[in-house]
Amino acid sequence: MVVDQKLLLVGCGKMGQALLAGWLKNGLFEDNVWVVEPLADNNLQNRFNINFVKSVDSLDPNFQPEIIVFAVKPQVMDNIVPLYLRFVRSQTVFLSIAAGKSTKYLESLLTENASIIRSMPNLAAAVGQGMTVAYKNSNVSKEQKANATKMLEAVGEVGWIKKESLIDCVTAISGSGPAYFFLLIECLEKSAIELGLNSDLARQLAIVTASGSSEMARKTSESPEMLRKKVTSPGGTTEAALEILMGSHGLEKLMKAAVIAAQKRSRELAE
Ligand SMILES: NC(=O)c1ccc[n+]([C@@H]2O[C@H](COP(=O)([O-])OP(=O)(O)OC[C@H]3O[C@@H](n4cnc5c(N)ncnc54)[C@H](OP(=O)(O)O)[C@@H]3O)[C@@H](O)[C@H]2O)c1
Repeated sequence: MVVDQKLLLVGCGKMGQALLAGWLKNGLFEDNVWVVEPLADNNLQNRFNINFVKSVDSLDPNFQPEIIVFAVKPQVMDNIVPLYLRFVRSQTVFLSIAAGKSTKYLESLLTENASIIRSMPNLAAAVGQGMTVAYKNSNVSKEQKANATKMLEAVGEVGWIKKESLIDCVTAISGSGPAYFFLLIECLEKSAIELGLNSDLARQLAIVTASGSSEMARKTSESPEMLRKKVTSPGGTTEAALEILMGSHGLEKLMKAAVIAAQKRSRELAE
């Protein structure tokens, strides 16, 4: 699954490192990777053993990347993106993971000729189980889209959307989603402790039950609803719990309100 292109990663924090680790582990880029990261130190250099520079000015002037990934915080994009204007050409695609920064915004800094992909990954990319959704502007070629798909698949699964505004919904579901599942695990763990289990066993039960259920939902062809019904015998323990979780003020209503709040905040942050 080699991407035979030169890659420049801008920003190597939490997400940058997660992506880079996936690309290198899967042998996507061989020696053709450069990283701009002001905090680059020996630890980072030793971990990845590729070319790090602290600023764009330190790059080899002859280096012409075909893929440039922006993995810096949204609030610094105004200052950072214009530094890469000189790389705009049809053979180069810009892939941004910055929350709330639209392709129109990136075009305003890189010109309308730039090939731009906006994506929303999630934290589970760090363990190769991420979910990324991406949107491309009309300048992106089929080959550039295919390469971006390969890169994002190196850290999990990928979906594409044709309407950019859906990214706010994606942010509310899979972008913020890991936190919802962590909360569920936390709640289950706390309940287990209150019911008398020791803290280690309580955490183990909560985590393994979550990952086992999620793995089952992925691997079988049955819907999550069917799987739930299968473990709910009439008059049994699961039914007793679900009567509370699925009551009129239950989880479905709460989850819907939570997701709508996240989608609204995503829109506000983009403005
Ligand atoms: N974390 C998530 O779960 C998640 C999920 C989806 C999308 N995202 C997006 O991913 C992006 C990165 O998030 P993150 O959590 O990885 O942030 P992060 O850990 O703060 O990483 C950003 C990195 O960029 C570096 N940087 C700052 N200025 C730079 C420059 N001029 N050139 C190159 N690098 C520079 C930062 O260094 P300094 O610390 O020195 O500033 C930092 O190491 C954000 O836009 C965020 O919206 C994150």
